[in-house]
Amino acid sequence: MAKESYSIVALPGDGIGPEVLAQALRVLRATGELFNVNFQIEEIPCGGHYYAEHEIEWPEGSFEKCVAADAILLGAVGHEVDGKTVFTKPGKPYPEPQLAGFAQVILNRQKLDLYANVRPVKLYPGVKHKIHGELKQVWEPGKVDYVVIRENTEDAYTGETVEIAGGRMTPIKITRAATERVVRYAFNLARRRNKQKKVTCVEKSNIVGAHRFFREVFREIGQREFPDITLDYAYVDAFCQWQIRNPEWYDVVVAPNLAGDIISDNGATTAGGLGLAVGGNIGDEHAMFEPIHGSAPKHAGKDKANPLAAILSMQMMLDWLGTRHQDERLLRAAEKVETAVEELLKEGKTLTYDLIGEEKASRCSEVGAAVEMKLRTLA
Ligand code: IPM
Ligand code: MN
Repeated sequence: MAKESYSIVALPGDGIGPEVLAQALRVLRATGELFNVNFQIEEIPCGGHYYAEHEIEWPEGSFEKCVAADAILLGAVGHEVDGKTVFTKPGKPYPEPQLAGFAQVILNRQKLDLYANVRPVKLYPGVKHKIHGELKQVWEPGKVDYVVIRENTEDAYTGETVEIAGGRMTPIKITRAATERVVRYAFNLARRRNKQKKVTCVEKSNIVGAHRFFREVFREIGQREFPDITLDYAYVDAFCQWQIRNPEWYDVVVAPNLAGDIISDNGATTAGGLGLAVGGNIGDEHAMFEPIHGSAPKHAGKDKANPLAAILSMQMMLDWLGTRHQDERLLRAAEKVETAVEELLKEGKTLTYDLIGEEKASRCSEVGAAVEMKLRTLA
């Protein structure tokens, strides 16, 4: 059922996170006004810069606020001081130092059970791929349009590392329960997309025993529950070159956590780069949306970074909320925000440096304003 009001926790984080998130929030606020939806937005400071100052990841009670929210929007985490990344001190919940901002990204993913990290790789009309050098091929829009579903709670991301003779060892954990639900998510998505009806399983099962188990569970669930979907397989190393050479082959791709992390950045190369790459961390009860580009400290504070990934993550959030609460207003809003971004890309004028070069570039805030203006004409 549609809700009276939707509570959104916004986590700006570090580096360019706050700048790009501010633009996503500006478009979100306009959406509320134009589609008559009430959003209660609470911004919570967090990330490495917060840790550097307070020695905690975020204010007390922040996680509980994430639990209570209808959805979470994240900017980026990862802070540097004198060129060095800020890590937390050894201690709970992890014995080892971790990137400060870990709580917002990894603990939220794990504790809120956001088991599917949904990362579309889609080339919009007017956008060029980001391969430099002599390669002349330019993909046509429509030919790069697949979704990476990254398992989001285990694999090499358990935070455990043990001392062993001569070094350290980090385990790779793959459980049946986590694999079943993420591959089901992928198969169901291939059905809903109704395009090639194909799911490619990407891992390193020729070497990693735990990945072999991932592949077995994938095959079992696919054959038993999704006879209408084609099962496809690739080892992650080979996949990295196929996804550049032949992106049109793919429809839905499912991968364990670390492989999924790598192939989603790699895939962004064929779809306009990280400035356009978006992700939704989705569970059955909660969800958190984020641009996947990271905090890019060297660009921070310059009003220069591309806000479109953050805006499109917010768009994914509208779509997720609209579907979950059967709220037509949100579904329509999601569609219009995507159209607004598509039109801006097609016109090719008001865009950041990564898409049209330094000389013609608009500022981050100008691009946000342009999306808002377009949305107002479309609503
Ligand atoms: C991502 C990021 C994170 C990850 C980092 C910031 C911990 O690279 O969301 O892809 O490895 O998952
Ligand atoms: Mn990543």
